[in-house]
Amino acid sequence: MRHQLECIGCRAQYPSSYTACACSSCGDLLEVTYDFNDLRESVDVSAWKSRPPSVWKYEQLLPIDGASMKITLGEGGTTLHRTTRLGELLGVKKLNVKNEGENPTGSFKDRGMTVGVSRAVEVKAKKVICASTGNTSASLAAYAAKAGLECIVIIPQGKIALGKLVQAIAHGARVIQLEVYFDDALRAVLTVVKSNPKLYLLNSVNPYRVEGQKTLAYEIWDQLEGDIPDTVIVPVGNAGNISAIWKGFQDLQEIGMISHPPRMIGIQAQGASPVTEAFKTGRSEIIPIQHPETIATAIKIGSPASWKKALRAVRDSGGIMEAVTDDEILAAQRLLARLEGVFVEPASASSIAGMKKLIEVGLVGADERVTCVVTGHGLKDPEIVSQMFEKPRTVKAGQLEFLLS
Ligand code: F0G
Repeated sequence: MRHQLECIGCRAQYPSSYTACACSSCGDLLEVTYDFNDLRESVDVSAWKSRPPSVWKYEQLLPIDGASMKITLGEGGTTLHRTTRLGELLGVKKLNVKNEGENPTGSFKDRGMTVGVSRAVEVKAKKVICASTGNTSASLAAYAAKAGLECIVIIPQGKIALGKLVQAIAHGARVIQLEVYFDDALRAVLTVVKSNPKLYLLNSVNPYRVEGQKTLAYEIWDQLEGDIPDTVIVPVGNAGNISAIWKGFQDLQEIGMISHPPRMIGIQAQGASPVTEAFKTGRSEIIPIQHPETIATAIKIGSPASWKKALRAVRDSGGIMEAVTDDEILAAQRLLARLEGVFVEPASASSIAGMKKLIEVGLVGADERVTCVVTGHGLKDPEIVSQMFEKPRTVKAGQLEFLLS
């Protein structure tokens, strides 16, 4: 679809041929913009109904030329679970959980990566790169493999879950570990990309990735037949996804498909919660955390790159930012697995933990229609399970009858 790029700070505009991820005059992030007057007329919602679930069925609202090659592994179309048992226990009557762990590489990143890597191919990039707490690297490695691109992933050494590292290696990415936190790894990558234009950056500061991820909002609209929730709760790390989902709901409003968007609630881990701090203290900027700490390694981020977009999403939607402890996260992971059969990694469970906390203090009501987004599959981080859940007993075969009587 025809589009432009616009700086979120100084509002400078760039044509779609612009390939950098930052504004050349003020350095702020960019976002993709469309002519909604045009789109209001041309978006064919009936086609949405007739096509099978997929990120690409929303192609009319994506910034890739119709004739360009789409690098796809079958992303999107994840289940929106009606979670009555969990809702009853926590005290909210209409609760849905959107399970992004069902995507091809097991996380929501695939929605962004199918669009981001298609864009890389469109602009004739040959090498793609990202810094990652794990899932971005797994996803980029897979899509780069599919596209036949060289892939480099930079990870903070010893700070990413085993399942994700294994994926990046399996898909043939060149994996480089740095002895730093994620924030410094991303900073290093941004510096390298600036001096080497042959490297195409695919972190969520790339506005094309955000476009793919916004389709989660369209899908919720589709799955609930237009009856969108009052509140959407999302785990927050580098802060790209909450910004993306908010953008998706804003698009729906722009083209007249919803009268008002839901409020967005972002949840961070207590030891890595600079956006929550800024929200609660009413500051307009975050204060980065030097040494973020949480067992939820995917969101162990002290200086989220998209903090400005996320704060805007939460404030403009009348939402909230909240933080949860590691114990609250692990308890939520367990509840979701045992009451609903949905197994997610710790970072993903932060949305459930945050909702529980907000119900307890009356900031989420019993009659509110809530959708929690869970972002990555539980098998990504098997070590945490073997630490936190009880281990199986070993007995002699002859003891079985007695044991089970
Ligand atoms: N949940 C999971 C499972 C994640 O992997 C991430 C981010 C988030 C939530 C937070 O999303 O960054 O858009 O606010 N993972 C990134 C990575 C940072 O490198 O894989 P966000």
